[in-house]
Order: sequence, then structure tokens, then C-alpha cells
Amino acid sequence: MILVFSTSPGPRRSAVPRAGRRTTRSLWEAVGDDPALRAAYRLCRARTKRQDPAEYALIQLVPAVMRPACWALWAAANAIDDLADDHSVDAERRAERVGAWIAALDHDVATGSSTDPVRRALVDTAWRWRLDISGLHGAMAVVRRDSHGQRFADWNSWRAWGRGTLLPWFDQVRDLFDKAGAGMALRLDRQEVYTTFLDGVRLTDILTDLSADLAQGDLLLPGQALDRFPGCEDDLSHRRWSPATAALVTDLTRLARAWVTQPALAHGMHPGPAVVLDTMAGLLRAQLDAVDAAGPALLRTPPRPSVAATARLVVPARARSALAWSLTPVTVPRPREARAPAVPAQSPPARRPVFDRPPPHPSGEQPPRIPADRMPTHVAVIMDGNGRWARHRGLPRHEGHRAGRAAAREMVYGALEIGLRHLTLYTLSTENWKRDGEEIGAILDILREELEDYPFQDLDVRVRWHGRPERLPQDVVDSMRLRERTTRDRTGLTLTTCINYGGRDEITRAAAALARRVRDGELDPDAIREEDLARHLPQPDMPDVDLLWRTGTEQRVSNFLPWHTSYAELYFTPDHWPETDRRHLWQAIDEYTRRQRRHGASADSPVPGTPGTAPPSGTAEDVGTSDVPG
Ligand code: IPE
Ligand code: IPE
Ligand code: MG
Repeated sequence: MILVFSTSPGPRRSAVPRAGRRTTRSLWEAVGDDPALRAAYRLCRARTKRQDPAEYALIQLVPAVMRPACWALWAAANAIDDLADDHSVDAERRAERVGAWIAALDHDVATGSSTDPVRRALVDTAWRWRLDISGLHGAMAVVRRDSHGQRFADWNSWRAWGRGTLLPWFDQVRDLFDKAGAGMALRLDRQEVYTTFLDGVRLTDILTDLSADLAQGDLLLPGQALDRFPGCEDDLSHRRWSPATAALVTDLTRLARAWVTQPALAHGMHPGPAVVLDTMAGLLRAQLDAVDAAGPALLRTPPRPSVAATARLVVPARARSALAWSLTPVTVPRPREARAPAVPAQSPPARRPVFDRPPPHPSGEQPPRIPADRMPTHVAVIMDGNGRWARHRGLPRHEGHRAGRAAAREMVYGALEIGLRHLTLYTLSTENWKRDGEEIGAILDILREELEDYPFQDLDVRVRWHGRPERLPQDVVDSMRLRERTTRDRTGLTLTTCINYGGRDEITRAAAALARRVRDGELDPDAIREEDLARHLPQPDMPDVDLLWRTGTEQRVSNFLPWHTSYAELYFTPDHWPETDRRHLWQAIDEYTRRQRRHGASADSPVPGTPGTAPPSGTAEDVGTSDVPG
């Protein structure tokens, strides 16, 4: 199995021009003088160059100071892949070795160094660039499971696997670009384009290394794809090139080509990473051409594009990237701190960071104790009445929005205290652009300040943004993306802010995504179910809203989360948003516990596990405020 292009070992000719002197000098300036560390990075570079010349060529397109980090990430990803692929030992032993590598990395991260050169380079990269590599655990755990072999029934399970192994590594690279000051920020409406691109990367890999995978008894293609060409699975397992296998390969290369061809992917990005992504797409298509042209040889050796084909892409890309990077100087990482973080070498590494408690409410009031089976999972709030609050005080409207900021913070504190898992706040709707430009400008300024001050830094809050990037200033989009990335491993409260959000727009986009799947032959329109549409929403993992609360008297939903609120309990209060605090949220939740939710069932047989269906209050087990199950 492979990460980006091929990792199959073996010498290959590189189409990449050698790095010049100047490049080499600035490269090592970034790493420092430690000879062992330099040797570790050199080893990562040599492995990248030998095992994956295309990846090496791509890394040459980034400024020299960033390359050691890229080699380290690549080499680490492939080190564990190689352990999982090493069939000289049995599956049990392979899984053990991968597990030991991961455990050793945990230890090395805690101590700040390693006896293994690849881990040493990776740990140094994480420290130097302030990367949070704990996000790689998920991907590495999948590789460990893969040691026992893999089979996929359908494209959905294949996609989940592929994304699970690739996305976290790509996210590290994106973080690296961010830290270097060359944002690879993806606009929200490009998320799907991005993940589809990664599916294309994965499929190209699998087609390229079909021979190697088959040799060790692996066939990493979904049954759903194989079933369309009867007999091909059997032919492949016997390494027989037949009309069925030929048709399968033609079909899959077509699909992979469509997936990696995403012209919108790099729009709005810094030109440096944009050149890297464009070139990557070109190299992937060249690789797919080689797969197409290989014929029966595909089942014997991994096909390679010609040196000339690669050079045609890489040489002009180097000129373009030199120009692109000359426009924005890259931020060089600060020197490493001399001291390791305060984790003793012998102690097991602390996996879960310790978060602060939210500041208490000035009244000292504590949240009510809510029985676990009556606690809502997801509360969504329409924060209305800022303008009226200001008008009643003779103030301009924007003062109302400014005052509303404190109320929003209060709700987050209150949600953490009562143990709510999901809180979604409606901050700016797609319809709000009808307002005066000055008011919108003020709202965006307040948002900027909030993202800058960021009061939830030390709390267990994962931040997500829901909405469209169009019309929003790029710096606001970038800051929101950054907050999303830096908090993505937090598991306490998920706080989703809906900014430039429209409910109908969300459903329209999901419908468009489904239409694309149908067009690509992956989905039968007659078999589309509600779950299929839900999966194509921009935030497919957002749970249904249990309680929709609107302040400010009005009793309407104003295009807010129509898909998720279809069975929500509605709760309207007269207070203007700036007048509310966490105690109002607790009251809302308390009110929710008294509702009887039926979801279409009769009052005599309500749906189990929802408020109104639990035993009378007092008999259900009370839960503490921080351990409410999701
Ligand atoms: C809600 O308050 C905040 C936003 C829509 C941005 P309003 O600004 O709608 O306040 P009212 O409804 O005019 O009082
Ligand atoms: C809904 O409030 C949008 C937000 C709270 C962000 P509005 O004040 O814009 O809603 P309408 O226009 O009164 O329906
Ligand atoms: Mg309003």
C-alpha cells in the first residue's frame, strides 16, 4: 500500500533536476548544525527520492526551508506503510510492528527526540513548525488494521478507508504551508472537491501498484466496482489479463482521471501551493496514462510515465513555482527550544491534553443536573434581537452586535458546564447581505476580533464553520479555517458557527453533489435514500438538531438548518440576544427535558430514548455535568 504515488522499492531514474548550491545551503540553515539530525533528514530525503521520484519532484517545488519537513512527513508515512506491507512476517507480527512504531512515536514526541532517524526527523519537524501530529494517530491505526488485509464491499467503505489514511497526512502538509505563511486554505465549498481529489490520488496509487498488491494477495478495489465486470476478480487473483480486467482498468483510470482533475481546487490559494497541487494533478494524469498504456504488463510491474513526460510537467512547474514563491517570502520556523516539553521520558505520553474549566457565571450559579436520557445532543440557536437591543438604548445597530458577542461566549461556557456535545450558533445568514454595508462590515470586524482574541483557546472546544466563503473576506475565511484545524482533535463541545449560511443553499449543494455521483455512474438515482443526501451535505457528520432556540420574540426559522431541524423542538424567548447568558441556555435545555418527542409515533408509543419517553424525573440516573454521553 502506498501513500501518494508509488512506494514500491527499487531504483528508478529521476526526472528531477538537481537542487542547486544556493538551495542546498538555505536548506540546512533551516535544520541547524546537529549532525545526527541532518543525517536523519538526509535519510528521509534519500528514501523519498529513491522510492517515489514524483513525490520528490513535487517537494522540490516548495521553498528549500520547507523541504526537510516534507521529506520527514513522507518518510514517516511510508515507514509504517512498509511495516504493514512486509510480508516476510505474518499478519499478526506486521500489526505488532506497526503498533510498536506508533507507540515509539508517542514516546519520542513526548521526549522530543528519537533513536530512529525517521521518527527523529518527524519529531523535529513537529517541534520546529509547531505541527500537532497527534492527528496522525487515526491514519496510523488504519494502517495497523490493514496489516491483516483489506476488502471493501462498496465505494463508500473504500472512500472512508482511503480518506482515513490520506487526509491526516495531507492536513499536516496544509498546516505546514499555513505555518510558513503560504496558506493552503481550502474554501468551504471546495472541501468536497478536495476529498474527491484525494480519492483520485488513492485510486491512481492502487492501479499503479496492482501487481505488487496482487502478489501479496491484496485487492484494494471495492466489490461494487469489480462486480460490474463479471469474472475480473477471479482473473486478477490469478493475474490473468482478460477482456474483463482490461475493461475494469479502463473504467477505473477514467474515474481516477476525473477525480484528480479538479481545476477549482487551487482557486484562492497562495500561488506556491497552487503550483504544487496543479503539478501533482498533472503527474497523476501522466501516471494514469502509463497505467492505461501498460496492458497485460500492469499485472507484472508497476508502470511508470516516461522521463520525458514527467520532465514536461516538472520543468515548467519549477519556473512557475520560483516565481510564485518570490511573491511572498516564507516564514522560517523559530529555532527549536533547547528543552524538551515537561514530560518525563519514562512516563507514558499524555495523549489527551488537559483543558481549563470555563470561567464560572458571576452569580456562581451552577447548571441543573439533567438526566442523561433527556439531555439534548445538539442545540442550535438563532441569536436574534441585537438591532432592537441597541435601538432601545439609542445606540447604533452595530453596538447590539458587539454586545451580542459576550452572550455567545456565555453560551459556550454554559454548554461546557452542562455537558452539551453540540452547540450551533447562527451568526450571519446568506440573506443578511441585504443589510446596510456598514452593518455587515461591523459584524465582520467583530468576528475578526473574536477569531483573533479567541477566548476558547484553553477549553475543550472544537470549532467548526458552516457556510459559504463567497463574499466573505479571505482573511476571515483563513482565520476560521485555521481555528478549525487547530481544534479538530478536541472532543468536548463541538461549536459550529454558521456564517454566511443558508439552509436551502446547503441542500442545493448536497443535491448537486449527488447529481455528480450519478453522472459519474457511482449512484443509481432510483436508489437514492435520505441517508445519501445527508452524506453529501457540507457537514455530513453534524447531528440532527434536538432543540432550536430563537431569542428576540420572532417565531420563525429564517432558513436555518432545515435538514437538521425537521424534528427539532422549537423554543422561542422574548429576550434580545445581548440580554441572555448561559442560564438562559440551561433554562432552554430544562424546558426541552419536559417535551415529549414522538417522531411520528403515537403519544402512547413514543420513540424510545427521547425526552418524554424516559421514566419520570428522579428515577432516571442523574449524570454529572461533564460526562453526558453523546
Ligand atoms: C441578529 O440580530 C444578528 C444578525 C442577524 C446578524 P438582528 O440584527 O437581526 O437584530 P434585530 O432582529 O434587528 O433586532
Ligand atoms: C436570522 O436573523 C439570522 C441570524 C440570526 C444570523 P434575522 O434577523 O436575519 O432573521 P429575519 O430576517 O428576521 O427572519
Ligand atoms: Mg433579526
